[in-house]
Amino acid sequence: MTTAPTEIASNDEETMILEMVRELVAEKIAPRAAEIDATGEFPWDVKELFAQNDLLGIPIPSEYGGLGGTFQTYVKVVEEIAKACASSALIVAVQELGMLPIMIGGNEEQKRRFLPKIASGEHLVAYALTEVSSGSDALGSMKTRAVRQGDNYVLDGQKIWITNGSVADIVCVFAVTNPEAGSRGVSAFVVEKGTPGFSVGNLEKKMGIRGSPTVELIFSDCEVPAANRLGEEGEGFKIAMKVLDKSRPGIAAQALGIAAGALEYATGYAKERVAFGKPIGQHQGVGFMLADMKTEVESARLMLYEAARRCDAGGPDVTLWAAMAKLKCGDVAMSVTTDAVQVLGGFGYSSDYPVERMMRDAKITQIYEGTQQIQRLVISRGLVGRG
Ligand code: CAA
Repeated sequence: MTTAPTEIASNDEETMILEMVRELVAEKIAPRAAEIDATGEFPWDVKELFAQNDLLGIPIPSEYGGLGGTFQTYVKVVEEIAKACASSALIVAVQELGMLPIMIGGNEEQKRRFLPKIASGEHLVAYALTEVSSGSDALGSMKTRAVRQGDNYVLDGQKIWITNGSVADIVCVFAVTNPEAGSRGVSAFVVEKGTPGFSVGNLEKKMGIRGSPTVELIFSDCEVPAANRLGEEGEGFKIAMKVLDKSRPGIAAQALGIAAGALEYATGYAKERVAFGKPIGQHQGVGFMLADMKTEVESARLMLYEAARRCDAGGPDVTLWAAMAKLKCGDVAMSVTTDAVQVLGGFGYSSDYPVERMMRDAKITQIYEGTQQIQRLVISRGLVGRG
């Protein structure tokens, strides 16, 4: 019987990339994972490693300096890294999240100006949508304002929970340009580090993904050139939503990787650890847990790869599939890591073993890029409309 994980639709190039990533993960990232979590410092060495190996611009077309790869390759790369280190996987995932507003809403000049440096890793990029009172209700409660003044927009407001906001060179920010216009009253801007009036506020202290800085961003009379507006005025909310359709599979991949890493560790432990005269995995109580964990991981993987395939194909069902993949993979990450801790017993609860870190890291995948409740809202609206 084979226990190898699902491999779907690989081509030669993807196979080569994944082999290279597996080697990097085994040699350079897995040995750093516990330390990254313990120190809570952004792993610049890991970011450099990704940049040197062209992993920061996988789905960016080659004409803009990227690898011109598929979303299917991209999600598999995130998954491989997350098996060992969720914080490191987030570097690749957030680089994609941050570049998508430019890919989706940017004009040719903006793509040529920003994308090559993102693809090479010279610039890190962040995505700033969330505010203190505007998390799930991203549109209705947005307060950050952008007011046109000549050739500039003046931004005022605060964003919170911005992943990599303190290390990013550029940030894609969403702000209200017309408070009367509802979904057509939001616009998207690229704000560059060093712009007067743009600063970084509090760093969050978090349960997991501790190597990934999550910060507050402050805009105070911050003048941004109109040439940095992405799309037309009022198109920002749609850009933000289209971005999430393509970035949620990246978070699903992170979740799946965490689950797969925990399953692998727990399985290895259950083969070695002996109780009552035989390995604990051969006792039905543990063996059946592992069976359920494996089944869940493989179903989540099939759903994610299908969502990524649909991202590559384009089409209106991407919204639904991205939400379903994020929902399934996030829930599987939480349940599988919790069970992995259980399989290891007392050792699972100790930071000397990786599964407690994996369990802490898994939780955020049920919260960010839209909570599991928001994914269900998106899925149900896709099925029956919103009334
Ligand atoms: N694609 C294109 N357009 C879309 C769209 C999509 N997927 N989803 C919505 N729209 C359009 C709608 O068609 C509508 O347009 P019209 O007004 O022209 O008809 C407009 O956007 C408003 O849509 P809704 O009426 O559906 O908006 P809503 O206020 O009911 O909210 C929501 C929709 C799905 C709940 C949305 O607010 C949402 O996704 N919330 C969650 C926010 C989120 O995921 N935040 C994540 C932050 S990023 C992050 O977490 C990253 C990180 O740290 C790593």
